[in-house]
Amino acid sequence: MTLAFADEELAGGLVLRVLRESDAPELAAAYARNRGHLAQWDPTRDEEFYTEAGQARRIREQLALRELDTALPLALAEGDSIAGLVTLSSIVRGAFQNGMLGYWLDRDHTGRGLMSSAITAVIEAARDDYGLHRIQAATLLHNHASQTVLVRSGFERIGVAPNYLKIAGRWQDHVLFQRILHD
Ligand SMILES: CC(C)(COP(=O)(O)OP(=O)(O)OC[C@H]1O[C@@H](n2cnc3c(N)ncnc32)[C@H](O)[C@@H]1OP(=O)(O)O)[C@@H](O)C(=O)NCCC(=O)NCCS
Repeated sequence: MTLAFADEELAGGLVLRVLRESDAPELAAAYARNRGHLAQWDPTRDEEFYTEAGQARRIREQLALRELDTALPLALAEGDSIAGLVTLSSIVRGAFQNGMLGYWLDRDHTGRGLMSSAITAVIEAARDDYGLHRIQAATLLHNHASQTVLVRSGFERIGVAPNYLKIAGRWQDHVLFQRILHD
């Protein structure tokens, strides 16, 4: 089964939709544009990451996982341009019914509530269309913008996971959040 997602119109003419292989050039350009903006929140990237070929390979991997029903890669699109990504990944069924949420937004689009709207749309699809029970997200301790977005989207803080992810070249503590989708 492939996770279906109907295009969601957000403010300012942006559309949240499934990532496409043809997004590779614009996604590479967006990552290059936002290299400084994302550096402290992302893993260290190699130079191939910023190329069209590198992004095409990553998109193909994501779309293959979507075919397996284990990931939903979404783009925030502004016409042909890419203004960010929202990804539900590592979806596990059985007794867990869980997905992991990751996201970033172009530096020129922050502070307008766009990511909060995008996450709300993903929560609704996860609950109503995919039958998931829980979504987890993790932020660095000092990522207050991301924590604000999660709390506003109904996530609860679980606690701090020590040395959780290798971000900006260092294993760093993260605050874990969860959103339970059904009571
Ligand atoms: C985190 C991110 C996705 C937020 O996107 P966004 O569209 O700006 O989010 P929203 O506008 O919906 O909400 C952001 C909120 O955080 C607040 N905020 C922004 N910077 C802040 C800061 N340094 N300290 C505290 N709050 C902050 C904003 O004021 C806003 O709250 P408000 O609407 O009450 O004013 C975006 O900043 C981003 O891409 N950052 C870099 C990558 C990243 O951190 N990804 C997430 C990794 S866990």
